[in-house]
Amino acid sequence: MPQTTDSETFSLYLKNGTSAIHEQLDKRIMQLNPFADNAHYQGFLRMQLRLHAAGEQVYQNAQLNTLIPELKQRSRLNAVLQDCVDLNIATELQQHDQQLGQQFTITDSYAGLGWLYTIEGSTLGAAMLLKHVKNSLNLSETFGASHMAAHSDGRATHWREFKAILDNLDLNDLQRKQALDAAKQAFYFVTEAVEELMGTEKKEVTG
Ligand code: HEM
Repeated sequence: MPQTTDSETFSLYLKNGTSAIHEQLDKRIMQLNPFADNAHYQGFLRMQLRLHAAGEQVYQNAQLNTLIPELKQRSRLNAVLQDCVDLNIATELQQHDQQLGQQFTITDSYAGLGWLYTIEGSTLGAAMLLKHVKNSLNLSETFGASHMAAHSDGRATHWREFKAILDNLDLNDLQRKQALDAAKQAFYFVTEAVEELMGTEKKEVTG
């Protein structure tokens, strides 16, 4: 049995510990009108690119791949990159965003679990965001918004399976805390990218 002081599952512990930051972030993103036009959506995509480029080291981590089946296949970095190409974001900007993400070091496997929680969880909100993207920008899962597509098993099932894996890990309180700190760090990383890429007057950046 996991050596923890209470019966809160690990995934619920992460959810409760990040819900305030999540709420702040999602309000801020919507306030910045990410789907107003292509220029705004480009800023949103570049934020996603930084996030997924930073998280990629976790999806490729050998130890975590033994704990979480098909972890590598969960990565959406290539889908985000394809969306950037579809939206004609200049290659130099894409490279810059990828480099910024890659420079970020995720210290250990427990921190990796926290980052994974934040990135995997973001696929849930994507259901709603995808509707906006389709209605406002006429994009789809096959053009411009492929990173928001539901998994073939279904979005909710894919997320439930992931949470079940998290909840079956044998972690002590310190390891849970390390994961929570990292999950928050991922949210802060996104918040910073949102302000930098989406928080100013938008002009389309084509390559
Ligand atoms: C405007 C932007 C966003 C909106 C409107 C939004 C909305 C939502 C909604 C409605 C859910 C719950 C879905 C459900 O339970 O079925 C959710 C879950 C989640 N979102 Fe977001 N989200 C946004 C952005 C993000 C971002 C950028 C991240 C992280 C990088 C993120 C991380 C998460 C996580 C981790 C969960 C899972 C919470 C849990 O443990 O149940 N979200 N989001």
